[in-house]
Amino acid sequence: MGPAMIRFGSFRLDTANQCLWRGEARVALTPKAFGVLRYLVEHPGRLVTHSELLEALWPATYIEPGVLRKYILEIRRVLGDRLDTPVFIETLPKRGYQFVASVIDESAGMLSAAGTKRIVGREPALVELGGYLSKARRNERQVVFITGEAGIGKTALADEFQRRARVDAPDVRIARGQCVEGYGGTEAYYAVLEALGQLCRGSEGESVVQTLAAQAPTWLVQFPALVKREQREMLQREILGATRERMLREIGEALETITSEKPLLLVLEDLHWAHASTIDLISALARRRASGKLMLMGTYRPVDATLAEHPLEAVKQDLLVHQLCHEIALHPLEESEVAEYLAIEAEAGAVPEGLAGLIYRHTEGNPLFMVAVLEHMQTRGLIAVAQRRLSGVPRRNGLGRLRVCARALSRSLLSANCPGTQSADAQANGAVGRGTRGRSRRGSNCDGSPLRRGRRLATCHQVLAACGRDRRAAV
Ligand SMILES: Nc1ncnc2c1ncn2[C@@H]1O[C@H](COP(=O)(O)OP(=O)(O)OP(=O)(O)O)[C@@H](O)[C@H]1O
Ligand SMILES: [Mg+2]
Repeated sequence: MGPAMIRFGSFRLDTANQCLWRGEARVALTPKAFGVLRYLVEHPGRLVTHSELLEALWPATYIEPGVLRKYILEIRRVLGDRLDTPVFIETLPKRGYQFVASVIDESAGMLSAAGTKRIVGREPALVELGGYLSKARRNERQVVFITGEAGIGKTALADEFQRRARVDAPDVRIARGQCVEGYGGTEAYYAVLEALGQLCRGSEGESVVQTLAAQAPTWLVQFPALVKREQREMLQREILGATRERMLREIGEALETITSEKPLLLVLEDLHWAHASTIDLISALARRRASGKLMLMGTYRPVDATLAEHPLEAVKQDLLVHQLCHEIALHPLEESEVAEYLAIEAEAGAVPEGLAGLIYRHTEGNPLFMVAVLEHMQTRGLIAVAQRRLSGVPRRNGLGRLRVCARALSRSLLSANCPGTQSADAQANGAVGRGTRGRSRRGSNCDGSPLRRGRRLATCHQVLAACGRDRRAAV
């Protein structure tokens, strides 16, 4: 892989300048730790053994494998990652590490192998999204929300849609901003600035910067690296005392110019953590009368937004009523879709009879837990794998042990105690019920409210992490 800008979560790995960025800020990392991170990011979604890492980074030199531990610790610290619940780097005891987050090679504009995992059950949603993109390319601005509980597959759907858009509609520029818990919530327009920064650094960045200079100086000054010192001082004088309304107006006009010829797909992830200013902007863009080749696609968890009394839910409802936005509410997978997923994982191998039903029942069709339970079964040796692919169950294990394993796991998952949910349940039911049309249509065997289910899912995260702990080394 040549020089590249590789994005994961809210970070960008800049291989040309050998550094790591978070938004506009450079993150301090020692050269050796950078080398380790780079190797893992460039080989995502698979085990990288200690010896492979040592061989790649220190060829012809004997280095104690224990040294890697020090660099991994440093990397985890700067990424804010945790050993017990890894978001980026998972430790596979005595073997090595695996980069588990999706990565996007921004310079090549392609999703990597880890980001192109096959998803099931989302074809209608992908077709619907494709229809909105076609409209946006015909100059009809589109605002779409992808909603659903934690782990339901909002990001996976957004990734797959972007991947298809890159192939089917290469004229579409794509920019993505990630809202971050407790961080994006305190910095105005955090995710939008991140996406705009990508556009400014992209292949046609020059013209985007010029448009911002002419129409949105209050935005351009947010990117000090992109403007010369004299211009920066001039801009700063010009925007003295600028109001929030002015920023909104400016970016609305600038985006209109930016999308007047070439379409733009703007993806804003996890809006339940967005600063209120970002929601104002979405609302203003949806209400603008002028045309534009813009599709804004936002993902969020309605339950989290409702519980936090976030302005997003009310804004979305209002936009829906006025037919100014669309919502794709994701539902748990059906049993047949779980079976389809297993068949894909098995490739040519046989899927043991009853496994799909077992996993479906114990995960309630939540894709995150489907994937996690499957992985748990693999690490317990209950499912045979070859090259990370499910290839059947050794006969002597049979479904009996699988059942015991799944039952034990799901008992701890589903019996999670949810203190104090009673009154909040009613609140969440009312608001969430509107935003997740037809959820009851699906055959979830969970009898709780969306809130209770959400809490259980959160507890599931913890239980699954605990299940995995015994197989992780002490790094
Ligand atoms: N339709 C699907 N088919 C197969 N796997 C899926 C599907 N949807 C999601 N997954 C897998 O489930 C896991 C969780 O999905 P994802 O991260 O997209 O959920 P999310 O809704 O974005 O969660 P969060 O609210 O935490 O951001 C990922 O490993 C993803 O690959
Ligand atoms: Mg997500």
